[in-house]
Amino acid sequence: MKLAVILPAAGLGTRMLKAAPPKGLSAESSGMSRKQFMLLEGAPILVHTVRKFVASPVVHDIVVAVREDDIDWVHEMLEPETRSLFGALKVVAGGNSRQESVENALKALDPDTDLVAVHDAVRPFIELDTIRKVVEEAYTTGAAIVGIVPVDTVKQVSGAQAGGAKVRSTISRERLVLAQTPQVFRPEILRRAYELARTDNFVGTDESSLVERLDQVEISVVLGSERNIKITRPGDMDLARLFFEQEGRK
Ligand code: C5P
Repeated sequence: MKLAVILPAAGLGTRMLKAAPPKGLSAESSGMSRKQFMLLEGAPILVHTVRKFVASPVVHDIVVAVREDDIDWVHEMLEPETRSLFGALKVVAGGNSRQESVENALKALDPDTDLVAVHDAVRPFIELDTIRKVVEEAYTTGAAIVGIVPVDTVKQVSGAQAGGAKVRSTISRERLVLAQTPQVFRPEILRRAYELARTDNFVGTDESSLVERLDQVEISVVLGSERNIKITRPGDMDLARLFFEQEGRK
């Protein structure tokens, strides 16, 4: 079984930018803007994420999508990290949205790839056991994602989320999961989903939302862990440091 992992890492970190950088430093030089390159105990978050997939015995190839200007130095940085991979490391140009970045990376897959896993570059705390479980499920069914059960009560609102929202209803928690990554599919399913999205101008925030639009494809959910956080806002780095320290103590 040949599994390729796509890591979209071409984001600009606009939600990180909303926080003010330390006095006298630009967001870029303080490392606050692009979360995938922020240092966690000396190594960029992307490197920590790559290490997890290199350590997983089910992974063959890794394709990382970054901004065009970053391709060379990111390849240089990741090359020593990926020497023990069964397959190859590819660093390709991403796009203006996460969806475009993944679509570009899909074009770089070897034709004999059996399964493709897409994982946010900014989720470095993915557990090897979760990778194994979601890959096994997708191997059997063709499509599987990692999700967790929400602990908060979820409201549907009208008006802007950021201010002036009014509660309209409560969505029963029994039927909700919060989607994480990896999201794993047979390549032909993912390619069809991307083609359909392109035809319809549909933009989704994960692969599942594109695949859900295909007839006759059911996507399994494999329960993951709340430690698999997506480092998005400045405060997430404090949690990331704690999790990293705890991993080291295991
Ligand atoms: O912005 P969001 O939280 O959806 O980002 C999730 C992942 O998608 C990040 O790893 C980010 O770098 C990546 N991304 C990308 N290309 C973009 C925007 C985001 O690869 N144009």
